[in-house]
Amino acid sequence: MADLKKLEQDLLGKIERAASEAALEEVRVFALGKKGVISIEMKSLGKMSPDERKEKGPILNGLKARIGEAITARKAVLERAALEARLATEKQDVTLPVRPEPKGKIHPITQVAEEIAAIFADMGFETREGPDIEDDFHNFTALNFPPDHPAREMHDTFFFNEKENGERMVLRTHTSPVQIRTMMSEKPPLRVIIPGRTYRCDSDQTHTPMFHQVEGLVIDKQTHMGHLRGTLEAFIKAFFEVDSVETRLRPHFFPFTEPSAEMDVRYSRVGNELRIGQGDQWMEILGCGMVHPNVLKSCGLDPDEYQGFAFGMGIDRLAMLKYGIPDLRDMFAADARWLEHYGFDANDQPNLATGLSR
Ligand code: PHE
Repeated sequence: MADLKKLEQDLLGKIERAASEAALEEVRVFALGKKGVISIEMKSLGKMSPDERKEKGPILNGLKARIGEAITARKAVLERAALEARLATEKQDVTLPVRPEPKGKIHPITQVAEEIAAIFADMGFETREGPDIEDDFHNFTALNFPPDHPAREMHDTFFFNEKENGERMVLRTHTSPVQIRTMMSEKPPLRVIIPGRTYRCDSDQTHTPMFHQVEGLVIDKQTHMGHLRGTLEAFIKAFFEVDSVETRLRPHFFPFTEPSAEMDVRYSRVGNELRIGQGDQWMEILGCGMVHPNVLKSCGLDPDEYQGFAFGMGIDRLAMLKYGIPDLRDMFAADARWLEHYGFDANDQPNLATGLSR
């Protein structure tokens, strides 16, 4: 039998010097593997006399146990070191400042749409969307536009060519068809806003063939005009970031609401600046009304059980008013200098906590 003391010293030295888990595994195989030095010593026990075995057995078992423990301990140290090394390389410095001057800006329409969504989300409204290409039913009929009624022409509609069945699809002239889609697919109570692209055959300083609207729809059992007015005034205050606004509801006509109104807001012009909320002049900013019973019926709702209000406003126009943009057509001219001037920083997400616009 070899000098076990020396063997133990050797092995412990090897274990201590093993610099990686792989190297340690080699030492383990060398010592305790099937053909390892300790295993061979163990085998020699079989050839010994019982007395000799009685003496050497415990010595060898002790050696085997101590080497095993040393390997386990070293393994824990190496694993820990490997983990520390990995953590060090994967470390991210979250205090690094944002890269300066990111290229590109958020378009004012996107900005304003997000501001609107943030304000209404705070009042419990969810967002819904619908298709730009609509059928006659959703864009007109279900909204209580009688067939061949001039109101259909009122919208300067873009029609597609007739299909074989005689149906003509349209580019939606307003976001109101999504009122219908929402009421037909969801159960009241409903509180939704519907932002999106809309289309009318029109073009001048304040009109483009494609523009953006946001629709609002509330359906419940006790909803009335007071809720409509309160909701819209709260919205206007939050949107224009002013403490008070004075509004008036002026009677109007929409086929899908009864009564219908346009909402005007007080404003004044100080030099080149528009001040919204107070002043000696009125500006129309949106259309609204109580949802017409026929519209509720088209959607399978009982007008004796449910009422609600709806409103629609131009996102682009709100953006022009809030951010002093003089010509609507520039919004869609894809001019990088214009966007550089009027656009918003992508890192500033509009929200009510830190402020809508900066
Ligand atoms: N859809 C109307 C328009 O485009 C706006 C509106 C929406 C009016 C909802 C009343 C209620 O002019």
